[in-house]
Amino acid sequence: MAHDGHSRITAPAPNVYDAEPIPEGARAEIDRLLQSGDLFRYTSDNAPVSLLEAEFAAFMGVRYALAVSSCSAAMFLALKALDLPRGSRVLIPAFTFAAVPSAVVHADCVPVLIEVGHDFRIDLTDFRMKLAEGAGAVMISHMRGHTSDMDQIMAACDAAGVPLVEDAAHSLGTLWDGRRIGTIGRIGCFSFQSYKLVNAGEGGMLVTDDPEIAARAVIMSGAYEHNWKKHPGLQNSFHLWQNRLPLYNMRMQNLSAAVIRPQIPEIDRRVRDGRANHDRVADRLNASPWFRVPKALPKEDRAPDSLQFNLIGVETDAAAVKFQELCKARGVGANVFGLSRDNARAFWNWQFLGEVPDLPKTRAMLMRAGDLRLPARLTAAELDYIADTLIAAADEAFGRD
Ligand SMILES: Cc1ncc(COP(=O)(O)O)c(C=O)c1O
Repeated sequence: MAHDGHSRITAPAPNVYDAEPIPEGARAEIDRLLQSGDLFRYTSDNAPVSLLEAEFAAFMGVRYALAVSSCSAAMFLALKALDLPRGSRVLIPAFTFAAVPSAVVHADCVPVLIEVGHDFRIDLTDFRMKLAEGAGAVMISHMRGHTSDMDQIMAACDAAGVPLVEDAAHSLGTLWDGRRIGTIGRIGCFSFQSYKLVNAGEGGMLVTDDPEIAARAVIMSGAYEHNWKKHPGLQNSFHLWQNRLPLYNMRMQNLSAAVIRPQIPEIDRRVRDGRANHDRVADRLNASPWFRVPKALPKEDRAPDSLQFNLIGVETDAAAVKFQELCKARGVGANVFGLSRDNARAFWNWQFLGEVPDLPKTRAMLMRAGDLRLPARLTAAELDYIADTLIAAADEAFGRD
């Protein structure tokens, strides 16, 4: 829509929710699966799910990859595979999606929320303090693809003898010091839900180099009887666990794998485009006094498909709400996490946890942090429309010409 007075904002607002088309290569395979009806991952040898696991493991440079129904399933199975006693404390960032504390509760553990700062990364002082109070595991969400300092986190976890699970739902393609995020901790979890870099509607992946963890997760994901024979390289471990673990049945089916496999070779291109898009909008916003887009950490090569910013010098919630509404009226969704109703990334809305903890640092961040989807397929003109709209809305809401 053309809009009032700001001459540069004339194009229609870009649709940031549509996904990229699924690569053409998926069609023939989907057709073959529909013809044969062979949709269950364990019916035939070399089923699409098994091929996907091998390809994903090669892409990530890990020994084992297990395809499952969602990242939530991967996180649940990760905690179960670690064999944590019921009621174990699992440290997670207080800035993440509600699915993360939910997976901890699902695994009969207790989430302990770590403060998160204005740079969207965990507060290492609070982390160390809560780790010192005891933990069965640490599960770090690299929320919106912002990587917390993995050197410090790994060192603290190793010193405490506590396993680290990485929730890499938003970090497919991100590197830390040249290593792929999701491969640094004991277990990494990925999502193929539609708003992620690889889109299968739903789906997830668990990766690890640890054969015992892999074998336990495979069985619990639903490799009943001798279906584990279709997972290479784990025969000895499976003999240990056969019939000794519950089957939670969180398998991926072949159609999902057929949709995902042709997207794996697209990941590097999507990462490059997403990063360039992010940096183009970030540079524009950082040139305005109202916005600060935190920088990547020195060891981090990010893979963003969204952008988060802090609103600077905005005293009242009312002004921030007005900014949000002006953006929306101009067709751009730039939600302030703490000011959009029932936001599933605001920890005080996780009432299923019981009493909401006092986390002033994370709360202050969420009350002035905006969230913008920026899928890799956007054009330069669309990105400029978004940046122009945010800056114009901020000028109007916060009182500058
Ligand atoms: C940070 C984060 N972790 C995990 C998940 C869970 O992913 P899934 O929808 O595949 O269960 C999400 C979902 O969007 C998420 O945002």
